[in-house]
Amino acid sequence: MTDYNLLIQQLKALAEDEPYYIPVLSNASALINENLEDLNWAGFYLMNNGSLLLGPFQGKVACIRITMGKGVCGTAAQKDETLVVPNVHEFPGHIACDCASNSEIVVPIHKDGAVVGVLDIDSPSLNRFSDEDKKGLEAFVQALEEVIVF
Ligand code: SME
Repeated sequence: MTDYNLLIQQLKALAEDEPYYIPVLSNASALINENLEDLNWAGFYLMNNGSLLLGPFQGKVACIRITMGKGVCGTAAQKDETLVVPNVHEFPGHIACDCASNSEIVVPIHKDGAVVGVLDIDSPSLNRFSDEDKKGLEAFVQALEEVIVF
């Protein structure tokens, strides 16, 4: 089980040195990739001209732009809610960047009440993300929102 409190402390320590979003999101994706087991992609998409643009990540090459309302990322951003998808093959319109992905979690990121991006994490296992992971990752994103400078 991931120690999300420790992960959040590490994120805050890293952001204290430099809160600019590029290093913070780059290190945040590395922290997640190193500390959560059984992942094949972890990273960010950021709102840009009305759609989601690929940001810092760890994993295979990924699709660059996602339309709002499309895929798991675009749906989570449009609905402004965390989506836990136990089997991506059963999610209508799922965008397969890495065909090894079987489950996924997407957590919206806010600034001044508006969605400015999403955290997207993929796993090769079905049903990888538990309710504990959902709560832990939402707390991680909340900490991110508090420290980051866009
Ligand atoms: N699967 C995502 C697309 C991004 S990749 O997983 C990195 C989606 O359906 O939105």
